[in-house]
Amino acid sequence: MPIEVRFATSGDKELIAEMIARLKALNEELDPLFKTVENLEEEVEKYVEKTLEENKNCFTLVAYDTEHGELAGVIRIELVDRIFYKPRVKAVITDIYVRPKYRRKRVAALLLEKAKEEAKTRGAGMMTAVYPAGNLIAELFYENMGFKTLQLEKHIQL
Ligand SMILES: CC(C)(COP(=O)(O)OP(=O)(O)OC[C@H]1O[C@@H](n2cnc3c(N)ncnc32)[C@H](O)[C@@H]1OP(=O)(O)O)[C@@H](O)C(=O)NCCC(=O)NCCS
Repeated sequence: MPIEVRFATSGDKELIAEMIARLKALNEELDPLFKTVENLEEEVEKYVEKTLEENKNCFTLVAYDTEHGELAGVIRIELVDRIFYKPRVKAVITDIYVRPKYRRKRVAALLLEKAKEEAKTRGAGMMTAVYPAGNLIAELFYENMGFKTLQLEKHIQL
């Protein structure tokens, strides 16, 4: 399948928002603390809009199916200054989503590869991913991509 990875543009806004909203809805199934807000679509749209405007500390890449002329997936990265540690700049994968019909075809692997290249160009010395503890597919994906556990996030409900 001919997949091209490129920077997201404002023309992709709606489809990216749809994919990220689906991702958040999937998280909701994994833990009650990921219960989504009532106006999820609206919030995701604002989030995507802001991301596309602010190019300094984050970027979004999309996988585009050139044969069918549609988006297959998306990855969003935030660059974070670690202040106390070296490497100082880390690239955090905040969102990665591949539409169901494109899964298991290495689309996410390709998005990740391109995101790594771009993050390096922007000065990042490491990359991390954040996802709900119950997301076994994400676990297997990141394991296959060579990611190791760096820190754990514990929670208690108040
Ligand atoms: C996680 C996700 C992005 C993976 O996308 P993908 O394009 O299907 O992944 P790839 O084809 O690049 O997979 C690369 C490797 O990851 C592992 N992997 C991916 N999906 C897997 C699955 N369903 N079961 C087991 N291993 C899986 C495999 O090792 C795979 O290599 P292989 O196919 O050669 O065995 C996709 O399943 C998705 O969008 N899920 C919903 C959103 C989500 O959970 N995002 C991550 C948390 S933010």
